[in-house]
Amino acid sequence: MSLVKWINFQSLGDERGSLVALEIGMEKAVPFDIKRVYYIYHTGQGVSRGFHAHKNLKQVAICVAGSCRMVLDDGNTREETRLSCPTKGLLIESMIWREMHDFSEDCVLLVLASEHYDERDYIRCYADFMAKVVPYDIRV
Ligand code: TYD
Repeated sequence: MSLVKWINFQSLGDERGSLVALEIGMEKAVPFDIKRVYYIYHTGQGVSRGFHAHKNLKQVAICVAGSCRMVLDDGNTREETRLSCPTKGLLIESMIWREMHDFSEDCVLLVLASEHYDERDYIRCYADFMAKVVPYDIRV
């Protein structure tokens, strides 16, 4: 199964423009209760971010302006995708190594998170991440 899991949000657009509303508890638009929202913007040219996994945290990343490239890695496979659409959220499950690259100058990456910020939930060393990953061939 692909690591790239998109959630499509309804755009409530009219002749004035577009609007997306995300409400807690709505029809599984986001498959967890949102405890935190943050956004990444004004990322310098050539700067990459992320380079970590979370033990428990789940996130949905939405590129509300501009674009960036997301690399997802579950320790068995590595996939990448471009985020550039405000009506599409990329679901990032727990225990997924993520890297963000190629931010456009105008990129605003909005992230919905299932938990409050907790540094103890981070795995910031790729070797530590790989040591915790269960290989596909021994999963039940
Ligand atoms: P960091 O996790 O390094 O960002 P990225 O993974 O996108 O490269 O976070 C940068 C700083 O911001 C770091 O000092 C932790 C802090 N931070 C918070 O205080 N709260 C948050 O919700 C997030 C995501 C980061």
